[in-house]
Amino acid sequence: TAGGGEAPAGTAFTAVAPNTEDAVVVPEGYEQAVVIRWGDPVLPGAPAFDFANQTPQAQEMQFGFNNDFAGLLPVEGQPNTYLLVVNHEYTTEPFMFAGYDPENPTVEQFQTAITAHGLSVVQVKGEAGTGRLTPEFGPNNRRITANSEFLVTGPAAGSDLLKTTADPTGTRVTGTLNNCSGGVTPWGTVLSGEENFNQYFANAEQVTDPTVAARLKRYGIEGGASERKWERFDPRFDLVQEPNEANRFGYVVEVNPWDPASTPIKHTAMGRFKHEAATIYVTDDGTVVSYSGDDERFDYMYKFVSARKMMPGNGQSSMRHNLTILDAGTLYVAKLSGDKPDQIDGSGKLPSSGRFAGKGEWIPLLRTGEDGKAESLVDGMSAEEVAVFTRLAGDKVGATKMDRPEDFEPNPKTGKVYVALTNNTKRGEDGKPAADEPNPRNNNKNGQVLEIEDEHAGTGFTWNLLLVCGDPAAADTYFGGFDKTQVSPISCPDNLAFDPHGNLWISTDGNALKSNDGLFSVVLDGDRRGETKQFLTVPKGGETCGPIIEESRVVVCVQHPGELDGANADQPASHWPDGGAAQPRPSVVAAWKSGGGRVGI
Ligand code: FEO
Ligand code: CA
Ligand code: CA
Ligand code: CA
Repeated sequence: TAGGGEAPAGTAFTAVAPNTEDAVVVPEGYEQAVVIRWGDPVLPGAPAFDFANQTPQAQEMQFGFNNDFAGLLPVEGQPNTYLLVVNHEYTTEPFMFAGYDPENPTVEQFQTAITAHGLSVVQVKGEAGTGRLTPEFGPNNRRITANSEFLVTGPAAGSDLLKTTADPTGTRVTGTLNNCSGGVTPWGTVLSGEENFNQYFANAEQVTDPTVAARLKRYGIEGGASERKWERFDPRFDLVQEPNEANRFGYVVEVNPWDPASTPIKHTAMGRFKHEAATIYVTDDGTVVSYSGDDERFDYMYKFVSARKMMPGNGQSSMRHNLTILDAGTLYVAKLSGDKPDQIDGSGKLPSSGRFAGKGEWIPLLRTGEDGKAESLVDGMSAEEVAVFTRLAGDKVGATKMDRPEDFEPNPKTGKVYVALTNNTKRGEDGKPAADEPNPRNNNKNGQVLEIEDEHAGTGFTWNLLLVCGDPAAADTYFGGFDKTQVSPISCPDNLAFDPHGNLWISTDGNALKSNDGLFSVVLDGDRRGETKQFLTVPKGGETCGPIIEESRVVVCVQHPGELDGANADQPASHWPDGGAAQPRPSVVAAWKSGGGRVGI
């Protein structure tokens, strides 16, 4: 074991070496197996997966594509039984349809892709002595797709900015798109962030109103046809015909997985941006704090502090109350300052203090009362405008431009909050912001992890960088002060989780070190703080996401296996998990210690 002495509980395993295998690789003495794959049945009557004959009718009852977030919720009174709730972020049509022509998608392919988006709720059963999970048809199994109805709540509900031909009330949205990371709430629901929704909308260049055009641009909605060309099949994806449709995506979505008939919610009091996720911390008095990153180069970190208190218990009246928690409260954006601003030169060299650290404040943008009345706290913007064009509000108040905030998650053991800043290769380019202390490298290919001591319901915080990721042999990396000869290389941190011992676990997306993405444990406290060890790697071209670290089981999502940057539009670089010449299939994987027993002990 590295570093001398005993590895802290939860991290005592032999690190997996970087590799480019077309397989999930776990430490010696561990096993892994697929839980569920794209196309596997979710609802009774779903046909078996048949790559040559995918149809919208089949897909609507099967597990969707490109799983990102995973939540595992124990079913009360049924030992070893869980609801697995998973996001399906986006579709990769060339991997989904034999002979796909990107210039001429068919209506059948469009409808199949629509139903491959969204979320799945699947009951899974564990087995004694292993971490294996097997899907079953439970009463709560459900598919939510880009065709499902959502209820809009909060200050933008009913706003003119959300009204369309199909929904003149501005309160009922068809579908959810690009659901990336998420979070499980203490009241038993699942939150999901609508992230890169910009890519679904066409013809922004024909919008002539300069205010509308500027808003579209700030959200990355560009002119011309969309990549998937859905606008050919449904006018809501054509901004000329439905200029407000894009304003109906980019929210935190809440799903009650315990009621398959429930209408999922889009919470507009939490703002609209490329929400990576929303994760919850509850203060001693029951105030709910939700943290959320806007995953874009030079975009912001946000939190929402509830006005209502969480109601304990899991009865129906508690659930009804708690489903309104995220509709009233204050939305803040983060501004950070460094302790040694004059010593930051963009190289990643540590300042004289020996670490990157500083202070921060939360700037209020929007306050929504329990009566539903909302007040803008930003000059020149209405409350509805702050809710729908939150990025512009952040711009006005001078929030700190970060290196792509992905997951933003509180440690349940310590209350400290962590942010994965995945990378930002444009940092320091001409005309772009240069390095600062929280984002200390120009042309940042490998990302960093920020640690925050937050006043949770208050407006102050202190911060430091736990990790400055990359090859530990490189001078521009930092591993919490730990011996860099004794850590695993790590690049592009994306999703965060905590094990029952309080260690941080990080999954990566886009490894810039030429090996596959994976999952890592990081020690946070004591003299081994910063010790980083790779627990698994995923197949070629895949992203590791949605990690769940239980006492005796690790669950990860393997997203977009085979998708290597730009090189393989119709030639996937992976045949995992089915092998042979099969198409790669995004899948959820469970890993455990052979013969059972606690992970990392
Ligand atoms: Fe979909 Fe920011 O990752
Ligand atoms: Ca993803
Ligand atoms: Ca992500
Ligand atoms: Ca990512």
